Amino acid sequence: MNRKKRKRDKNTAKIKTSYYTISSPKLPEPFCGYRIVHLSDLHGTLYGRNHKVLIQKVREAAPNCIMMTGDMADQSQGAIPRLIDLCSRLCRHWPVYFIDGNHEQCLKEKEQASLQRGLKRAGVIQLKNSAQELVYKGASIQVYGLVMPMVYYKDWFREYRWGIKFTVQDAERLLGMPRGDSFRILLAHNPLYFPAYRDWGADLTLSGHIHGGIICIPGLGGLLSPEVKFFPKYDGGYFWEEGKQMVVSRGLGNHFLFRLWNPPELAVITLKHP
Ligand SMILES: [Fe+2]
Repeated sequence: MNRKKRKRDKNTAKIKTSYYTISSPKLPEPFCGYRIVHLSDLHGTLYGRNHKVLIQKVREAAPNCIMMTGDMADQSQGAIPRLIDLCSRLCRHWPVYFIDGNHEQCLKEKEQASLQRGLKRAGVIQLKNSAQELVYKGASIQVYGLVMPMVYYKDWFREYRWGIKFTVQDAERLLGMPRGDSFRILLAHNPLYFPAYRDWGADLTLSGHIHGGIICIPGLGGLLSPEVKFFPKYDGGYFWEEGKQMVVSRGLGNHFLFRLWNPPELAVITLKHP
């Protein structure tokens, strides 16, 4: 094996693909087998030249669409053009749904404008406290995107805050009342408020933000949340509460500290009509 190939294989090996099956009687039959690739918290990381490694991983998953749940770009050097380039490449093959995370919301005005322009040009479906009908084989479900105001992340001193509540009423104020009876996917960057999302009416929530707890302690789970809380409840993986489901991506990049025993994750979610 030559050096170039060895290096490529090493890069590919860095991303772990996780598989989840989401079963619900609310899912229309044609959606049985529908596959979503869930990407989150890339933080400007580049996997291979022109994102070759990441795109190859997506291709292997053979998705019907891609859903991005925030912090795909941040203020690091080159993160915005890299994300726009990635989205342009992905949009050629798959519909790409996108919500802002706290890091996109913190971009300076000029950076924010360039990101928005680039994503629009790429053809990304941006959801900002709005919904979009996802139609497949004549059936449909709803995809909602929540962009939570920064007050739910940080205080006036730009420090992560603890203990602020996000209620069902807050979800209604931002997203409106859930429409109709169809299956609802909610893209929400911060999984901390799963009880509110669930009680609002999200059948499946896709989240990120926690980066798998940054350091994963075998048998105990993720160690730290970005708010520096130890052993966050929703650190990564699959959660089920009151008949509602959530998948929390462990993220593809990093923002502070380092990832330990916690490989970057690409999640593949297969919908199933029981
Ligand atoms: Fe993040």
